[in-house]
Parts: sequence; structure tokens; C-alpha cells
Amino acid sequence: MPRIILFTGKGGVGKTTLSAATAVHLAELGRRVLVISVDPAHSLSDVLELEVGAEPKEIRDNLFAQEVDVYFSVEKFWGKLKTYLRDLLRWQGVDNFLAEELAILPGMEEVCCFLWINKHFKEKNYDVIVVDSAPTGETLRFLSLPDAASWWVTKILPLQRKVMKYVRPAAKMITDMPLPEEETYDALEELFKEVYTLYYTLQDPAITSIRLVTNPEKMVLKETEKAFTYLHLFGFNIDAIFVNRVVEEGDPLFPLQSKYLERIKEAFEPTPIFLVPHWKEEVLGLEKLAHLGRLLYHHRAPDEVLYWDKPFEIGEVNGRFSLKIYVKDLPQAEPEIYHREEDLIIKIKNFKRHFYLPKSLAKREIEKAILHRDLLEIVFK
Ligand SMILES: Nc1ncnc2c1ncn2[C@@H]1O[C@H](COP(=O)(O)OP(=O)(O)OP(=O)(O)O)[C@@H](O)[C@H]1O
Ligand SMILES: [Mg+2]
Repeated sequence: MPRIILFTGKGGVGKTTLSAATAVHLAELGRRVLVISVDPAHSLSDVLELEVGAEPKEIRDNLFAQEVDVYFSVEKFWGKLKTYLRDLLRWQGVDNFLAEELAILPGMEEVCCFLWINKHFKEKNYDVIVVDSAPTGETLRFLSLPDAASWWVTKILPLQRKVMKYVRPAAKMITDMPLPEEETYDALEELFKEVYTLYYTLQDPAITSIRLVTNPEKMVLKETEKAFTYLHLFGFNIDAIFVNRVVEEGDPLFPLQSKYLERIKEAFEPTPIFLVPHWKEEVLGLEKLAHLGRLLYHHRAPDEVLYWDKPFEIGEVNGRFSLKIYVKDLPQAEPEIYHREEDLIIKIKNFKRHFYLPKSLAKREIEKAILHRDLLEIVFK
């Protein structure tokens, strides 16, 4: 079964560079690898310093690259629905050009680009599919979509379809409004099916590893913590954190970075954290990427599942939410807790943990903290 390794992180942190370096290194180790950019704003060609096209192309022994074409992907996966929506918008008086634009719903471009992963996974042409994805914001939007959509698919869609079947003939006599045809529903169902299959593939830790790329900087870190919380909540396995652009001792940035590196440990351990040095020059072209790739994994195989566990869980007991954070061998002492909006900091003797609370917990007050041996439970009011 192919492995999928997906890199995400805030804009500009080094996702494309690390995806490419990982892929080049895997190919050197003899794996058949595809590195695919599903970010509508591509830069894989620039990083590889090679022309990468909309179809996978072999760029070195065992190494293939692809930058998906947004327009083509939307036509391929969303085409029929787009046509229907466009006709509907035109009928409402929206002019042609705008109707064409609006018929591509928000998030649809990302969804259609992501669906390529499905195709490659099913075709089994590669041992490893390395995904260079869009910045965390867009990636999260895609990864949280199926949950919201499931309600539509199971409840509304079949109902609408049934109703439409009876209503359509009569409705056509009284209105010239474009009505969804059977094939519009077929296309919609097909699209949802594809999205769900992909979603479950991405949620299987034996198949997919999500790797978060970050930098030792305040704003970047905050976004990484948020992604860490939400990706875990949606059931994805993050098997490593890559801290990119770490400077050496003596650099003016060193003291500040050291502070953030401490915080990174407090936020993500025991998920493995890999530090990536800041290079004096840009990391471009196959040779430099190969060099970086060899350094990245500290002699571990990049297609190994580097970590596989749930660092926390959120549950409900008697109408109250409780957050369980798993930590080995917690010191047994009174926990000190600091909570402001989404920031949660827990101190127990020399143990310290930063946690980004999801929206549903950020606004609640903490009622109590219960200390167990390998787990800290926080109950919210
Ligand atoms: N460790 C490093 N040392 C020096 N330069 C780096 C390092 N990592 C990345 N860069 C440079 O930083 C720039 C941004 O990197 P990259 O394109 O990989 O980021 P990205 O996260 O993919 O960005 P985007 O969100 O725009 O897709 C590039 O010019 C790259 O060469
Ligand atoms: Mg990029």
C-alpha cells in the first residue's frame, strides 16, 4: 500500500522545500516517489529548478513530480455541478463572467486539487506520495469539510433528490428556473464519495503521516499549535514537527529562537521534533535538496511512521467537556494552570505544557484539574 506524507504549515515556513528534500531522499533510498503540489500557488518547479507539469513527470531515477492544475482539476471533479450552479446564477440575473466565478464555491479549488491524491493512491504507481499542501488555513478548511458535508449527504441529498424527481415535471411548466437533473445529483454524489474516500485514507495513520513545518517565531508557532489541535481533533495523525530555519549559536537570533524552541517542546512533545538548520543560501535544485534530505531525518527512513498516538482527547461527561492530555510519568504535585482565551498553560513542578484550546473550550472556565499518573484531565464548566 502506498504511503502518503503530507507537509503543511503557515505560509513561507518551508513546506515546499522540505517536501522536495524528503522526496529526493526517498528516491535515493530506492523508493518510487511522487512529489505532488496541491497548493494552487505552486513553487515546486522553482524549488526543484525544473519544469514540473500538470501530469506526473520523472525528473530523476524513481522520482516523479507534479503540480496540479487548478483549472483542469476543478473541471474534472466539479465540472457538471459548476455548470448547473452557473446556469442557476445566470437565471437569477448574475452576469456571465461573475456566474462563472461564483460557480466555484469557496474551498472547491483546494478540494479538487486534493482529489488527485486519491487517484494516485488507488492506482498504486508509487511507494510514497509526498504532498506539498497549501498553508494550514486552506488545508484545515479542506480537512474539516467532510464532517460538515456528511449531514448534507446523508440527510438532505437523498430527500431532495426524491422530491425533485416528482416536482421536476410540474415545476418545469411554471418556471424556467434551472432545476438539478438526475445527473447533477449523480455528479454530486460521486464528488462526495471521492472526498470521503480520500478523507478516510488521510485519517489512517498506517497510510498517512501529516508533518507540520514551523519556524521558531511567535506568530508561526501559534498557527502551528492551532493546526496541531485541530488536525488531531479531526482524527489525523501528526507524526513529526519540523522546525525549519534554526540558527547556530552566535547568531543574533539565537537567544530568541532558544526561547521558542523550549516552547515548541512544551507544546508538541512527545511528537518527534526535528530541527532543520537555517542555510546561508536558498535550498534550490536537486543536489542541495538531496543534501538537506539526508540531514532531515537523523538516519530514520522518511517513509517510516515516525510517531503514532493521540496526545490528547476531548470528551463529554454529564454535559461537561473534559480535556485529557496524556503525559508519561507526571510529577505528582498541585498543577498551576493559566488560561486565557485559547491559550492554556499547565505547570506541575518542572513539567510545563502549552496547549491551544479549540473554540468550544476557549470561552469556557476551568472547573478543576485532576492529576492521574500518565494523564492530566481538565474539566470545563
Ligand atoms: N532551512 C532553510 N534555510 C534557508 N532558506 C530556506 C530554508 N528553508 C526554506 N528556505 C527558503 O525559504 C523560502 C520559502 O520556502 P518554501 O517555498 O519551501 O516555503 P513554503 O512554506 O512552501 O511557502 P508557501 O507557503 O509560499 O508555499 C524559499 O526561498 C526557500 O529556499
Ligand atoms: Mg510552498
